[in-house]
Order: sequence, then structure tokens, then C-alpha cells
Amino acid sequence: MITINFIAANGDVQRAEGRIGKSLMEAAVASGIEGIAADCGGLMTCATCHVFVREPFSSLLPPADGEEQSMLAFTATPKSPSSRLSCQIKLSTALDGLTVELPASQY
Ligand code: FES
Repeated sequence: MITINFIAANGDVQRAEGRIGKSLMEAAVASGIEGIAADCGGLMTCATCHVFVREPFSSLLPPADGEEQSMLAFTATPKSPSSRLSCQIKLSTALDGLTVELPASQY
């Protein structure tokens, strides 16, 4: 298990444990993190699992593929260079302490 920090738009921090091999979205949903809707359950058709990944973790992730890039065009809160879909982030030991910011809204 790794520790993940979710920082809400108002600065509130929610902490969760994530199982290696699962997605960040799955860890968020399993922990009841507010601010991750994940309406499509990870099928990459909703863009309601949008997060902004802080460094140094953002640089550790493989780049978003074309499909993820396309879906990031549909986020409710405008994307930034650190934007990712949390359903596409696979948890690994290297991501222990992963810190992501949540958008003000997923809709
Ligand atoms: S859960 Fe729908 S795109 Fe990630």
C-alpha cells in the first residue's frame, strides 16, 4: 500500500491508502475521497476523475496517451500541464506520497 494525498480546491487535505497495481481513481473511490466522481468507472469516457499531479510525481508518470489526451479536452475545470485522468494512473511503490490537487468541480 502507498499513501496518497488529495488536496481539495479549498486546501483541505484528504489522505488515502492505495494498493499497488490499482489505479489512483480506484484508490480514491475505495477511500470515499470527495472530488473524484469517476462516472464511467475507468472506461475513459467521462473525464470526471480529473486531477492535477504535483511534482515530483508528475514527472514519474508515463505520458498521457492519445486517448487520455483527447478526454482531457472535456474536463469541467480547464486542464493544465499537470492534468491527468486518475483512472489512467497506475499505483506503484515509486508513487508513495503521491500528491494530487482536485479541481473545483468535475461537472
Ligand atoms: S473514470 Fe471516467 S475517465 Fe476516468
